Amino acid sequence: MKALVAFILLVQLPVHRAVPAAPPPPLGCDDPESEEAAEFAVNYINGHSHHGYKFVLNRIEQVRVLRQGSNNEILLLELDLLETKCHILDPKPLANCSVRTFHEHAVEGDCDVKLQKLNGQFSVLASKCHSNADSAEDIRDLCPDCPILEWQNDTDVLTTVSRALNDYNSKNPNTYLRLLEIGRAVRQYHPVRMVSVEFAVAVTNCTAQQAKDNLEACQLLPEDQSNFGFCTATTVTEPSQDFTAECQLYGHQPGVTYPHPGQDTSAGLVPSDGQGFINHNLRISHNNPVASESSSSEFPSLVSAKSVAKRAAAEVAQHDKVPHQVGFVAPPPPCPGKIRYFRI
Ligand SMILES: *[C@@H]1O[C@H](CO)[C@@H](O)[C@H](O)[C@H]1NC(C)=O
Ligand SMILES: *[C@@H]1O[C@H](CO)[C@@H](O)[C@H](O)[C@H]1NC(C)=O
Ligand SMILES: *[C@@H]1O[C@H](CO)[C@@H](O)[C@H](O)[C@H]1NC(C)=O
Repeated sequence: MKALVAFILLVQLPVHRAVPAAPPPPLGCDDPESEEAAEFAVNYINGHSHHGYKFVLNRIEQVRVLRQGSNNEILLLELDLLETKCHILDPKPLANCSVRTFHEHAVEGDCDVKLQKLNGQFSVLASKCHSNADSAEDIRDLCPDCPILEWQNDTDVLTTVSRALNDYNSKNPNTYLRLLEIGRAVRQYHPVRMVSVEFAVAVTNCTAQQAKDNLEACQLLPEDQSNFGFCTATTVTEPSQDFTAECQLYGHQPGVTYPHPGQDTSAGLVPSDGQGFINHNLRISHNNPVASESSSSEFPSLVSAKSVAKRAAAEVAQHDKVPHQVGFVAPPPPCPGKIRYFRI
């Protein structure tokens, strides 16, 4: 009899095991695990971006977890980012980079990131980002005198860049700088009329005299000696003429490179390549073909996660209407999460 009971228990054991456990509660956007994943994703995005500025996390818009097994899960994140004042070549840690405020014409980034968390270690399987400047009309409505982003190919912008470079190169005859890219440019009309630019530079292998003799031969320093920097310059035209410029060199940073369009690394003095946009697009797009299971559409589940969240919110609202549920406290909506800086 005892043996029979034991036998029955043994037989039943695997059956009991097969009963699926209740699914774990969905991850909220402000949960520590979501924040940890978002932080990893933002560092990855900045690490793979080559133009413009570093971005910080403003809000976790959506998160979805697909459990693959023990200590193995896939996280799908939808992130809202904001542009900082640190150029992508700036060695300053992200925590020390201040965010570009609404009054400085903010730029927002939107990213979808697919991460794997395997034994506590994150890796990015796929990511897709783009960025947009805040609407100039919205800024003017709230702040009519605020500086507004200007086209990077604007004549006043290019003149200001050239003048700042000439200024630096004439005052530092042993370090001949070349423009890498304009980061941003703004124009303001009141109380002063001015154009202000920010641009990344690199040291060439020429002195000012060598550049004067043969500009074509001046090349950026080779990768093992590269020295990047950043300049700001402002041309004021009213109420009185004024020009200020300042450049800072970061010093050699091993492993930090700047991709050059084409083969042109020569030290052009005039920034002829002022581009027809107002902000660099955060065009990170990466797909790990080995690790990802679907290549056609990487982030389809976010849509369903969104509708799930919406349904959950509707159910919570429904609960609130039930009169006898006096003690019921609606939990904070799991997503989107809190705004860290400001809404854009
Ligand atoms: C970053 O900020 C911390 C804390 O304010 C400061 O101690 C550190 O020197 C800063 N690092 C850089 C590179 O600016
Ligand atoms: C700079 O580098 C280029 C390419 O290596 C070389 O042709 C040129 O002579 C160098 N210029 C100086 C001043 O050393
Ligand atoms: C700047 O670029 C935009 C877009 O390519 C173009 O429409 C505009 O005419 C350009 N402006 C100047 C001053 O070259």
